[in-house]
Amino acid sequence: MTLDLAVHEAYRNLTGRDPDSIWRAPGRINLIGEHTDYNDGFVLPFALPQAAYLAAGRREDDMIRIASVDLGEQFETTLAELAPNQDGWHSYLAGVFWALREAGHQVGGADLALASDVPIGAGLSSSAAIECVLVEALNDLYELGIAPMDRAKLARRTENAYVGAPTGLMDQAASTLCTEGHALFLDCRSLEVQQVPLDLAAHGQAILVIDTLTRHSHADGEYATRRADCERASELLGVPALRDVAMEGLDDRLAGLPEERLVRRARHVVTEDQRVLDACAALRSDDLVRLGELMTASHASMRDDYEITEPSVDLAVEVALANGASGARMTGGGFGGCVLVLADQTRLDALAAAVTAAFVESGRSAPATFIALPAAGAGRLI
Ligand code: GLA
Repeated sequence: MTLDLAVHEAYRNLTGRDPDSIWRAPGRINLIGEHTDYNDGFVLPFALPQAAYLAAGRREDDMIRIASVDLGEQFETTLAELAPNQDGWHSYLAGVFWALREAGHQVGGADLALASDVPIGAGLSSSAAIECVLVEALNDLYELGIAPMDRAKLARRTENAYVGAPTGLMDQAASTLCTEGHALFLDCRSLEVQQVPLDLAAHGQAILVIDTLTRHSHADGEYATRRADCERASELLGVPALRDVAMEGLDDRLAGLPEERLVRRARHVVTEDQRVLDACAALRSDDLVRLGELMTASHASMRDDYEITEPSVDLAVEVALANGASGARMTGGGFGGCVLVLADQTRLDALAAAVTAAFVESGRSAPATFIALPAAGAGRLI
């Protein structure tokens, strides 16, 4: 059964009637620009076909009822009971009601049925997809008229304040604002966006996603540590954010930092911002060789300077490059998850087979693979 039908049926089981409508919000792959968003920098994600689906209907009281198709569980709460810093799968949804009301939007109760095929913990923004699909639904159901970027910000507020993860804006912006066939360039300071055409098939190329299936349980703590390092480095350098450090004279400027670790963290962010700008230019001039080089350089920077990779993703990148990929890098927050590989379409099967063989040989489970096509951002289905 497709997920839109699954949530429709789950909604009927929950309420005995049809939903007001069904909404969809996608996961994302980040083409390049990692850990730059919370440094006021640049990112270049695109939306995936994998998405969260939500059947929803308004209620006249302040009750929130949620059915999760994937977990086979239900959850109930009221608007009055909502409070930040909650755990559990339902907090990504309950928190959206909280964030909207905190921002002064008149939202009442709702019945919700959710299903998603975005892999959890793979660095593909499964949580942003859930937050964004509900922001979308409530914006329509309660006719709130919230602009797209503000919807993304409210979804991020849910993640930061209600769920308690100190993330940037990239994932929610990608899920909300991406358009089919494009990557989304986002300046995380000005919030300027550009839709950058991404038609790899026209050049006989594709992006293969390799999910290493490695999940890191301490990733949240590491994420916060990296953020703190960046804030300290920018403070010591006397700039509002690492975005403000120029590439020119970078080594000299960073040499003034008191700890080698801070030098490496700052170098990753500053060079990664430049790689995003260069990647946009490469895409606009159809230079996929250059795009591949930038992706591989981004991985090296995450591995050596930002230290957020781990052996499985490094192995996938190394084997992909040795088997004809034009570029490869880990995507997302780090410490496992997915690698994206840019390669000629004709090489994809052999390349995936080589990575799988290397994984099995080294005692790992075979990775999951799929081709990533840039899909549409969040919206109402019917
Ligand atoms: C996670 C966060 C994003 C971003 C990436 C790293 O996906 O949610 O805000 O910081 O990590 O680029």
